[in-house]
Amino acid sequence: MPVVGFFSKNTTIKLQNEWEKRLRIHFPSIKLVPLLSKDAEEATSALIWKAPLKRLEDLNNLKGLISLGQGVDHILKNDSIPKKIPIVRIVDPYMAKSMSHWVILSILNFVRDTYGYDNQEKIKLYKSRKELNFLSLKVGIYGLGAIGSVVAKDLYNLGFKVEGWSRTKKEIEGINCNYGENSIEKLISNCDIHVCLLPLTPSTTNIFNKSIFAKMRRGSCFINAGRGEHVVEDDLIENCKSGHISNAILDVYRNEPLPKDHKFWEQKNIRIWPHVAAETNPKTAAKQIANAIKCIDNGEMPPNTVDRNLGY
Ligand code: NAP
Ligand code: GLV
Repeated sequence: MPVVGFFSKNTTIKLQNEWEKRLRIHFPSIKLVPLLSKDAEEATSALIWKAPLKRLEDLNNLKGLISLGQGVDHILKNDSIPKKIPIVRIVDPYMAKSMSHWVILSILNFVRDTYGYDNQEKIKLYKSRKELNFLSLKVGIYGLGAIGSVVAKDLYNLGFKVEGWSRTKKEIEGINCNYGENSIEKLISNCDIHVCLLPLTPSTTNIFNKSIFAKMRRGSCFINAGRGEHVVEDDLIENCKSGHISNAILDVYRNEPLPKDHKFWEQKNIRIWPHVAAETNPKTAAKQIANAIKCIDNGEMPPNTVDRNLGY
């Protein structure tokens, strides 16, 4: 019977039971136990989100770690996890679609000036506002992976011009795909809407900074659903204040939950979402997690094991 240590940011027995029920559909003998409990000392794998990683050092039977999300930065930030322990991530088409819906919603709110109309409604002002022509706008997608590639295709199918950026070469019909460190410059200068869907690694940390914002077109829209650490927050605030960035729509922050006294809350052209753009869905993700647990127990390399050298 594989014992799995479980930890999620809002760990409750209800949530743990929900996961256990879902996982047992695919692997009936799985037992979930709280990561911080004594029982976890028996665990051969751990299913975790933002867990206190020090705890892993006590688990001598551990053979593999599974992220409860698509990102693994919350695990890889502890570089003392032995290399022989595979770190597995979720890759779920449901999450990619869910993210795509959120990005489309954010872009349409920008293009159709939803916030301007909301303000007019408050003062009963019935008046058309200047409309942006979506044909003259280009969307830049930073990160064309499991999520970014779906978002890029969906935006293209909605009639947007889309350009993408990844580390290695990609071919996606209708989308101008750039790759490699220097080609980020093309997206920065060619696009009006910038969408960050990158993983957090040493090469992508603070990637959206003063010098990159300065190279964006005046009035650009910036959307971040990658990680808070991709953005130098003070540089973003400065650019939003000056109007160089006309709108920023954010789902992720360096400190989560976003502190009540954070300057983002006061900045009118920054929209705050509480890290919900694409949430993990036990119903759609359970099968691959159960399979990962099985592989770990059998000493096999599970699908979607991250490359520790690349960091994603
Ligand atoms: P993924 O499949 O690993 O894709 C990552 C993409 O980023 C790949 O296209 C990769 O290029 C590119 N990339 C990585 N490092 C790069 C670099 N230095 N320069 C240029 N491109 C680089 O990841 P994913 O599943 O799409 O998820 C991406 C991120 O979204 C996650 O890591 C997480 O941070 C975030 N996320 C957020 C939410 C939310 O609710 N806000 C939900 C899920 C995920 P290659 O293809 O060439 O390797
Ligand atoms: C959420 O942020 C994830 O990485 O799945």
